[in-house]
Amino acid sequence: MDLTSYASVIGKKVEQFIYTVVSGHPKKLYEASLHYIKAGGKRLRPVIVVLSSKIGGGSEEIAIPGAAAVEVLHTFTLVHDDIIDKDELRRGVPTVHKLWGVEMGIIAGDLLFAYAYKCLVKAMDYGVPSDRVAKSLDALTEAAITVAEGQALDMLLPEMPNASVEDYIDMVSKKTAALFAYSAKIGGLLAGADNALISNLFNAMMNAGIAFQIRDDILGLIGDEKVLGKPVYSDLREGKRTILVIYALKNVDENKKKRILSVLGNRDADVNSLREAAQIIKESGAIEYADSLSEFYANKAIEIVENVKAADTEALNMFKELVMFMIRRNY
Ligand code: IPE
Ligand code: IPE
Ligand code: MG
Ligand code: MG
Repeated sequence: MDLTSYASVIGKKVEQFIYTVVSGHPKKLYEASLHYIKAGGKRLRPVIVVLSSKIGGGSEEIAIPGAAAVEVLHTFTLVHDDIIDKDELRRGVPTVHKLWGVEMGIIAGDLLFAYAYKCLVKAMDYGVPSDRVAKSLDALTEAAITVAEGQALDMLLPEMPNASVEDYIDMVSKKTAALFAYSAKIGGLLAGADNALISNLFNAMMNAGIAFQIRDDILGLIGDEKVLGKPVYSDLREGKRTILVIYALKNVDENKKKRILSVLGNRDADVNSLREAAQIIKESGAIEYADSLSEFYANKAIEIVENVKAADTEALNMFKELVMFMIRRNY
């Protein structure tokens, strides 16, 4: 089976699992909480959990609670991220806070955070030994802590006058790559794989996740809003130090730098000045630079994956395919 079909099979199973676990009252809270799950999404993190379980000698079935847990945790971070970033579109639908208000969005995020744990604990019902479940819960906790640290860095970077590429890599490793890496770890742990294998899958996904976020920054400037299902130029409006902005600010003349800075973090900037700033950034060579940086991390990921000895070679091939998709994607 190819990766896309497999992702959709896993996506459906995970979705069903989530609907059975995440249910209750009041109705509005649950509607708000399940809004993004219903809207779709690429389901990359669940697929990583399942493939990692198979690579580590486990089955698809025992990995489903873990796969659901990381998708629910991811959804929680998206709900709060959209509040923080003041975005109005996600997965092609209006954001949770846009439809239900910021207050309900905060609670929906909290609810999903708790349900992520409830999903993972259900691995016990699938016959996974309790020590493996305990280790997976610890990994989920580490993931949640790291994403929170990364999101704080994402917010604080604009306050650092000379944010460097290293600062950026540290920030995206935490806000984005960590959840991919811990998804691989959780899959391996549920399967009872050995530590060396788990550590390879973890490191591969950490590198692939960095490449993924670099690609996300590029798509946020040159992507198609309809295909992406989320807004372009929002990073500029919010003053985010994306890799493109960091590169451009270092490499354009004073006049152009001033023009970029005049829209960066300026919520009143009109679409023409945003387009002009985007044009300056593109002409600075930032996209080419970001592409090559993304390729550097992707190659590191592939190199690690090449050395993995898998219990299931078909799963390993799909894992490789997934790394390639993460960096080449248009959505
Ligand atoms: C969005 O992640 C948040 C980032 C880390 C950039 P995805 O691009 O995986 O979003 P969905 O799950 O497919 O909507
Ligand atoms: C991605 O944040 C990380 C999390 C959601 C935790 P971004 O703000 O960069 O991602 P998008 O572009 O909104 O998906
Ligand atoms: Mg965002
Ligand atoms: Mg954000």
